[in-house]
Amino acid sequence: MNRQDDRVIRSEDPETWRAAFYRDAPITTQWDDGTYTGPGKGKIPSSSNSMPTMVFSMLDALNVQQGHRVLEIGTGSGWNAALLSHRVGSENVVTVEVDGASARDARKRLNDAGFDPVSIIGDGAKGYADAAPYDRLIATASVGSIPRQWIAQTKPGGIIVAPWGPAYGGEAVVRLTVAGDGTASGWFVGSSAFMRLRAQRVQRTPVREYLGGRKWPADGIRSMTNLSPDAVGDWHIMFAVGAQVPEAFPWMEPYDDGSYTLWLRDTAVTSWATTDYEQDREEFEVYQSGPRRLWDEVETAYQWWDAQGRPRFDRFGLTVTGEGETIWLDAPGNPVPRVSG
Ligand SMILES: C[S@@+](CC[C@H](N)C(=O)[O-])C[C@H]1O[C@@H](n2cnc3c(N)ncnc32)[C@H](O)[C@@H]1O
Repeated sequence: MNRQDDRVIRSEDPETWRAAFYRDAPITTQWDDGTYTGPGKGKIPSSSNSMPTMVFSMLDALNVQQGHRVLEIGTGSGWNAALLSHRVGSENVVTVEVDGASARDARKRLNDAGFDPVSIIGDGAKGYADAAPYDRLIATASVGSIPRQWIAQTKPGGIIVAPWGPAYGGEAVVRLTVAGDGTASGWFVGSSAFMRLRAQRVQRTPVREYLGGRKWPADGIRSMTNLSPDAVGDWHIMFAVGAQVPEAFPWMEPYDDGSYTLWLRDTAVTSWATTDYEQDREEFEVYQSGPRRLWDEVETAYQWWDAQGRPRFDRFGLTVTGEGETIWLDAPGNPVPRVSG
C-alpha cells in the first residue's frame, strides 16, 4: 500500500490488497465520478465496494427468497450483484449503475466470477421498467426521496431496502413494504452512510454566496443560546433534526484550539446561521440571516427530539405516497413535525 494516499493496487501488492479487501470496511474505488485519477484522494468518493457488515445487514432486511426477481440500484464493484446472483440466479437479478466505467468493470468482474445478471448503464432513479415487476429492490446509493418508479416497479407485498437521509445529514436504511395502491411504508432498520444517488446530491453553495460579498457576520442578527452546537452533531440526532428541518445542511469550520463554528445554510440560498462552539462554555454566540432562522429551527427540532425520549433510528419509519413522504415516530399515525421556516 502507498502509505501516503492509502491506495492499493492488486497487481502491485496482492497481499496488502487482500488484507484491505477482507477488512470490514468500505473501499473507495472511484473519486469525483471518475474525473479525479491522480494519487491520493479526490474530493468526494463516488463509487465503492460497500462495507461487508452493511451489505449483509441490508441483504438480511431484504429477505430474498428463491425465485425472487431482484433489482439492485448502484452496481459499484459488482460484489452485491454477485451475492444476489448466487442466491437467486443471475437470470433473476438486474443491476443498474450510472457510471459507465464502474458498470463495465463490474460486468467483467461478475462474468469472471461466473455470473451474468442483466447489467444496465443508466440512471437507477428510474429503476428498470423493462424487466419489472420485481419482488425485491435494493439501493446501495442513498436517497433523500424514494423514486416513485421504484414503488411502481415492485410487486404489491414486495420489499424495498434503501439508505434514506435528509439534506441535513444523518442517514439510515429504510425497509419499505409496497402496497398495491402506489404507496410504500416501513421502519428504519439501522444507521448507514452511503454515497448519494447522483441526481439527489445536496448542492452545497459556497458560504461567500450567502454573504453576498460582505464579511461575516454581514447582516446576521446576534443572539445567544444555551444549546451547545456539540449537542446536535451525532449522526442519529442529525437524522432527527433533518427529518424536521427541510432543505438545510450543516458545515463545521474547525480552529486549531478545538473550538469551531457550526454553519447552517439552506439549499435555496436565502438563509444562513452560525453558532460558535468553545469548550467549557455554557452560552454560545449565534448569528442568523435571511427569512429562515436556521439555528432556531435546529433548536426547536432538537427540543422535540429530546422531549420524545431521544429516539434512535429504530423508532422512526417512512411512508411514501403519490403526494409526498412522511417520517413518523413509533407508528405511521404519528408524523414527525416539520419546523416551519
Ligand atoms: C456504494 S456504491 C455501490 C456498492 C456496490 N453495490 C457493492 O456491491 O459494493 C454506490 C454506487 O451507486 C452508483 N450510483 C450513484 N448514482 C446512481 C444512479 N443514479 N443510478 C445508478 N447508480 C448510481 C455510484 O456510481 C456507485 O457506483
